[in-house]
Amino acid sequence: MKTAVITGTSRRLGAYLAEQLTQAGYRVIGLTRQQNPAQPFSQIELDYQRSDSVLEAAAQLKQQLGQLDLLVHNASLFEKDQQHQQDPAAFYQALFAVHMQLPALLNQQLLPLLQASGAGNIVHITDIYADNPNPAFALYCSTKAGLENLMKSAAKAYAPLVRVNSIQPGPIQFLPEHSSEEKQQVMQQTLIATEAGFEPILKGVRFLVDNPFVTGLSLKIDGGRALGK
Ligand SMILES: NC(=O)c1ccc[n+]([C@@H]2O[C@H](COP(=O)([O-])OP(=O)(O)OC[C@H]3O[C@@H](n4cnc5c(N)ncnc54)[C@H](OP(=O)(O)O)[C@@H]3O)[C@@H](O)[C@H]2O)c1
Repeated sequence: MKTAVITGTSRRLGAYLAEQLTQAGYRVIGLTRQQNPAQPFSQIELDYQRSDSVLEAAAQLKQQLGQLDLLVHNASLFEKDQQHQQDPAAFYQALFAVHMQLPALLNQQLLPLLQASGAGNIVHITDIYADNPNPAFALYCSTKAGLENLMKSAAKAYAPLVRVNSIQPGPIQFLPEHSSEEKQQVMQQTLIATEAGFEPILKGVRFLVDNPFVTGLSLKIDGGRALGK
């Protein structure tokens, strides 16, 4: 049975990927801030902000699994810089922890399990904003760019046994706090002007896993938003 570890599985894309891969026959383990017994896959609870908690979760995975076929870095914190004017340093630290420290430590710790699979895959879920930042989200964008860069180092270091790629989503699903003006503005800049949902990202993960000659690729799945009109 193939195994997958996905971070941030409580809701939205992470929950969807974990459910779909479970249905496809994977043994999925979600790494999450809070376990949800109603979800149809096993979970390990951790605090993304604390490196000792991340290392403890990695140690549990090493005890539970003989090999790992797929590792997806999905957990994310998407908030405007303006929301954190009181303590920007704490906000930046939190972004660094979830977008860079967590993936870097997991890649390092779980590498032997990925190598044991004989054809391990790591997918970093980044953002089109990693290449073309939105200044209202400058701190978020800079740590997603860090996640993108980590992908490239890992692709070089882990080849050929483990392939490492990223997916840069565009507008797949707005957050409830997005205003209708913000939504309209994004749609106006998107060639395929629709909120795509999560299936295109699953298709991207499948493509990266299934294609043995792809590593170090940043795959935009964005309806052409990065190109713009
Ligand atoms: N939605 C979009 O249109 C869009 C566009 C571009 C890029 N992306 C990227 O695609 C991925 C999935 O998007 P999404 O919209 O499904 O993400 P999301 O719901 O905002 O967050 C993904 C996961 O991160 C964890 N999380 C949420 N808030 C957090 C916080 N404040 N601190 C730490 N962890 C937090 C949650 O996992 P747990 O509760 O299980 O820990 C959540 O399930 C993300 O990496 C995102 O950056 C999404």
